[in-house]
Amino acid sequence: MLQVSQRTQRIIASPIRKFLPLVLEAEKKGVKVIKLNVGDPDIEPPMQFWRMLKNYKSKNLPYAPSPGILEHTLAWVKYYSDFGVKLQANQIIPTVGCAEAILLAIMAVTDHGDELIVFEPLYSSYKGIAEMCGVKLVPVTLKVENNFSLPSSEEIEKKISKKTKAIVVINPNNPTGTILTFKEINLICAIAKKYNIFIISDETYREIVFEGEPFTFLKMKNFADNVIVVDSVSKRFSCPGARIGCIASYNQEVMSSVLKIAQVRLSAPTLEQYALVPLLKNSKPYTKKIVQEYKKRRDVVFERLSKMPKVVCRRPQGAFYIIVKLPVDDSDSFINFLLKTFRHNKKTLLITPARDFYISRNLGKSEVRIAYVLKTEELKEAMQILRLALQEYKN
Ligand SMILES: Cc1ncc(COP(=O)(O)O)c(C=O)c1O
Repeated sequence: MLQVSQRTQRIIASPIRKFLPLVLEAEKKGVKVIKLNVGDPDIEPPMQFWRMLKNYKSKNLPYAPSPGILEHTLAWVKYYSDFGVKLQANQIIPTVGCAEAILLAIMAVTDHGDELIVFEPLYSSYKGIAEMCGVKLVPVTLKVENNFSLPSSEEIEKKISKKTKAIVVINPNNPTGTILTFKEINLICAIAKKYNIFIISDETYREIVFEGEPFTFLKMKNFADNVIVVDSVSKRFSCPGARIGCIASYNQEVMSSVLKIAQVRLSAPTLEQYALVPLLKNSKPYTKKIVQEYKKRRDVVFERLSKMPKVVCRRPQGAFYIIVKLPVDDSDSFINFLLKTFRHNKKTLLITPARDFYISRNLGKSEVRIAYVLKTEELKEAMQILRLALQEYKN
């Protein structure tokens, strides 16, 4: 009998997309499903991006070089310099989104059977990528009641073994919407130094912070060799379809390893690398604008959620997600109810069950993740649907 790999058998269906058949069924019946499940913003990318695409002159569409089109990589150099970080072009390699940057970073620092420390709940693609690489994720559990703060250094250190190669942080965080405090940043750096492990810092949402300034681990110059940043234009320029991200590190051995793998997969998209040059060189006017918009959306969602009886959540500080503990036993069943049964003015809601953002079994069963990626008017309607649906579900 033909058999596919064990590896793929172990990869779970994306929790973000698994309700698609039920959504299609509801939509076929004329029901409008308000989708707060995917981190796919409704905001338009900046005009410069389209202008650059339209102005592409050549009749050929060649591969880009594996280390990136120099003009593009230099635009990343300028981008980071706007955050006070001085990188050379050979310390940055463009990738196919942050998703590929994560894959390349993990492949560059681990071998089969190695371990990575992660904080759960975490962006679920890490679980699939770890399976692909044959690497074990060792979770440190964070709790909504505690605003997802990190535990003490000792608690984290307990999870470190001889096989630990890196500690992964996502800051600002998907799915929790939290931002690391300076104390937490220092704690992570100290652990990385003490145990000689890497820090893989996912900074996809760097600018989307509602209080304080954007941060990057590349600023931690005393830990320069430990830090590997995985990055993306998807959210900050509202263009996830461009499929551009990068890996950045001062560690030349890391960058040489990444480059070898980058050469095997050839290159990141050519057209999009060109189109992003002006934006990377002058990112702040656009990102400042969208942060204001996400802040308004955060306020609409959080204010309404915090008034719902027996709903537990904390005010997100960044990115555009919130983890919410609902008064239900199983959020999967509740979402099934939303899609199959509950209707309010011929509308319903799609949100993501949080269980699959955890690695430990039986955690997050009554939690959901809400992505506030729609306009405030729609978010108000969505929160009303959630409130009414919870009432009806309880009955
Ligand atoms: C934390 C985090 N990292 C990486 C990614 C992947 O981003 P990209 O579109 O750049 O591949 C996402 C996408 O939602 C994310 O939330």
